[in-house]
Amino acid sequence: LRHGAMRREVTRQAAKGDLGAHMIINPDAVRDPYPAYEQIRGQGRMVRSALTWTTVDHEITTEVLRSPDFCVGLRMPENAPGLLRALLAAGGTWPLGPAEPPSLLSIDPPDHNRIRKLVTRSFSAKAISSLRGRTEEIAAQLLADLETRAGADRRTDVISGYASLLPATVITEMLGAPVEMREKFLEWGEGGAYSLDMGLDYATFRRSERDIDALTDWMAGHFERLRREPNDSILSSLVAAYDQEEGRLTHDELLSLAMLLLAAGFETTVNLIGNGTRLLLTHPDELARLQADPALWPNAVDEVLRYDSPVQRTGRVAARDTEVCGFPVKRGALVLTHLGGANRDPDVFPDPARFDVGRAGADRHVAFSQGIHYCLGAALAKMEGEVGLRALFDRYPDLRADGPAELRGTRVLRGYRTLPVRLGDAR
Ligand code: HEM
Repeated sequence: LRHGAMRREVTRQAAKGDLGAHMIINPDAVRDPYPAYEQIRGQGRMVRSALTWTTVDHEITTEVLRSPDFCVGLRMPENAPGLLRALLAAGGTWPLGPAEPPSLLSIDPPDHNRIRKLVTRSFSAKAISSLRGRTEEIAAQLLADLETRAGADRRTDVISGYASLLPATVITEMLGAPVEMREKFLEWGEGGAYSLDMGLDYATFRRSERDIDALTDWMAGHFERLRREPNDSILSSLVAAYDQEEGRLTHDELLSLAMLLLAAGFETTVNLIGNGTRLLLTHPDELARLQADPALWPNAVDEVLRYDSPVQRTGRVAARDTEVCGFPVKRGALVLTHLGGANRDPDVFPDPARFDVGRAGADRHVAFSQGIHYCLGAALAKMEGEVGLRALFDRYPDLRADGPAELRGTRVLRGYRTLPVRLGDAR
């Protein structure tokens, strides 16, 4: 019901032609958000509406995300005047989930620095490069299993059989969670992914809540197991930090951080591998370039992140009256930054609707955000994306699409639920 107030208001504003609200609920945007981004771009660099400011401009997006004048504390009623404040006061909060406070994603300094510091080292470029060999082993094993499952006609679904399992296996191993829980995590994650979206129907909202509750219960039980039998995983060290150093983090912060690491680990990179597979299947010339010159792979991963971003949107609230690239923004205003739209900004990416694995400057994308909330797992995601896509196309150079791909129904997260393929001969 509480969620309903926000949903009704967003729907009402969308019906009045509010572009920002329209982007939040527009069902067409699930299938293909890119025409709507161009519509916004046609209206200006910052488009103002009753509920929000909306932008698909690369420079403005970057500035908002980096600016200390903006925060993520959406629950600060004193910071949210006008319509947004009325809605928040009426209880129209975002649904529960790994992105709800005290999630790292939704807290501001100084708490944000205190908590993020606990996990930065585990996700540093150095730490991640030491995981590459193991990730290659996992990819090879998963591809062998995929082939067995495909059977004689060699037809299979690359998402459930591979793209989702690779990141899920890596993050469960990193966190020291039992690998046999992998499928269960993915099942809970399927509903949980909707918690990032607004404008959900009630059944989807309830499913999302239920799946997140199940994950929360499992995690609380897992902490107890780690207390009895500590290991050298990230989760074990977080539990020890909580138990041994008073004031380091609260119980809710511990739970939220563990859930975010797990969910972010397997909810997003699946879309990088899935969207990349789909793009290479539909752009055989680009695949041929990679096969002829494998040194292009890292750049190709950035181009996938740019061209079809796994996380399409984030937002910030102005903490004080401020100005962004000449646009005055009042304290409490919500700015929706469409990362997927900023990544198609023609001022930064010439001929932006062209998928070009050799594109110069592909890594200027904002798919991992910017500023203090810049994706903690960016190095991990890029390594997994490269290893995962390369292993797939190296082993099956003649991989073909085999029927229509089905998108997940989520808006903030963009990716496929199924991607049927025919493997072809293995190399
Ligand atoms: C934050 C994207 C993979 C962990 C973010 C943000 C984005 C993002 C856009 C910031 C949102 C904002 O500014 O509001 C992605 C993409 C991924 C990916 C596109 C894959 C292709 C991962 C992985 C992990 C991870 C594998 C590993 C655990 C996190 C965490 C945050 C975050 C913990 C919160 C950081 C903070 O608020 O300080 N990610 N992510 N992500 N990501 Fe990722």
